[in-house]
Amino acid sequence: KEPIILDMDPGIDDAVALSIALTHSEFDLKLLTGVAGNVSVDKTTANLIKLVEFFNRTDIPVAKGAAAPLKKAFKDASYIHGASGMPGYDFPEPVYQPLAQDAISAMAEVLSNASEPITIVATGAYTNIALLLQQYPKLKSKIKRFVLMGGSLSGGNVSSVAEFNIFTDPDAAKIVFESGVDITMIGLDVTLKALLSNQTIADVASMGTVGKMISGVMTAYNDVEATGKPMHDVNTILYLLHPEFFTLKDFMVYVITDGPAIGGTIADTQDRWSNGQLNAHVAIDIDAKAFENWFIEEIPKMNAY
Ligand code: BDR
Ligand code: CA
Repeated sequence: KEPIILDMDPGIDDAVALSIALTHSEFDLKLLTGVAGNVSVDKTTANLIKLVEFFNRTDIPVAKGAAAPLKKAFKDASYIHGASGMPGYDFPEPVYQPLAQDAISAMAEVLSNASEPITIVATGAYTNIALLLQQYPKLKSKIKRFVLMGGSLSGGNVSSVAEFNIFTDPDAAKIVFESGVDITMIGLDVTLKALLSNQTIADVASMGTVGKMISGVMTAYNDVEATGKPMHDVNTILYLLHPEFFTLKDFMVYVITDGPAIGGTIADTQDRWSNGQLNAHVAIDIDAKAFENWFIEEIPKMNAY
């Protein structure tokens, strides 16, 4: 079983990604951490708890992380994810509490106690993981890899170059990309190809309670492309389960932290700057049909828990 820490900002696509992770016995989920992004950190952390309660997985600790980016002013994406970050389904108010410890020290404790290096999946801004790297540099060797949703080599979704997670906290993203930790970057180059059609979203509603919940939140999701809705964060979990669906290429990726291209990720595709140095495995293509088939087959399985 792969030991994993999930750092998220649910957020509708985060919520669907977490739902899949919570119901897969392949993963040993050590900790869930919330970060400010799609909505405030209080809300993203509450949403993590609503989901662990929904799936009866309160055995997994949840910790609250950074309330704002390292330097940039915080701006949420409630225009996409609703005021709560998880609209479209009537979750009960959570009863379970987050850890008293903050997300950074909770991650550090999990890493220190781990007998093998741990994969950290991040699907929000990278503020928590940048703080972890800054505050606990010795624990870097305990991080097996970062699997990140974020960035783009082919245009942005919040500006002509920037993707939301990087744009939210570019300074954190720069720290992460310069950390030397193994990075898999799953950005808009693939997540805008893996769309769920409105028909599929509607069909999922009849697939039990889990299907009803997922269809509900996806229906309320305001991220709309011509032929469907992108499931950005779900791609990180899919990548862990089915790396063969993805095509990756290694690049040196630079993060732009100011000016009009702030939040942009530039890959040195022609090796003009990096002298052959590489820092990220970048997902550049996905088998979109395999993605959609996999998704439809997943939902009924998730009811088993
Ligand atoms: C990313 O931004 C967020 O709104 C989504 O949850 C996803 O992590 C896509 O750019
Ligand atoms: Ca997210």
